[in-house]
Amino acid sequence: MSAIREKIAVYPGSFDPITNGHLDLLERGLKIFDRIIIALAENPAKFPFFTLEERLDLVRTSLASHPELSRIQIETFDGLLVNYVERTGAVAILRGLRALSDFEYEFQMALMNRKLSRRPETLYLMTGANWIYISSRIIKEVVSKGGCVNGLVPDVVEAKLKEKLQSFRQRQVALPQLGPDDREDSAA
Ligand code: PNS
Repeated sequence: MSAIREKIAVYPGSFDPITNGHLDLLERGLKIFDRIIIALAENPAKFPFFTLEERLDLVRTSLASHPELSRIQIETFDGLLVNYVERTGAVAILRGLRALSDFEYEFQMALMNRKLSRRPETLYLMTGANWIYISSRIIKEVVSKGGCVNGLVPDVVEAKLKEKLQSFRQRQVALPQLGPDDREDSAA
């Protein structure tokens, strides 16, 4: 009798920081897969606002009381995504699509990943309507200019964003570049 294999998906991203759009996508992914691995990439080319450790910590804290925590794994990876995915035994890469503007970058990435490995399929879910306009980048921009992002990110993220901005200001350190407003930022 063959063992029933768990269906695992890797949900990769920069998560700089995690937003409610990301969390919504995770919820929906959990309805399809037995286990989801949230895989955080360092992504230095995007000048992350938070260090990888801080981002990891924010994801962990945001999900600490999740009722399905046993089906969620939170990790970091470096190198090629497909190599990481193969090591995990996942069958799919999960990504969110907000708008047509996301499509080109995602299409390119999915096809390149497919060229590199035939094993994982990339599965896209449409971002929930409540989160269609948010991205990690826009959240950082709004907070950096004193705007309110309550209800768009977990409370812990909002607090950490404010804390970090204050520490930059106190030390009179320039804010990290927010990067281009393109899809290299999966809000969901
Ligand atoms: O949240 P993001 O920044 O849109 O996530 C992008 C990410 C991390 C999924 C992408 O940059 C990635 O897969 N990086 C790992 C390196 C890699 O495999 N690059 C080739 C992908 S075509």
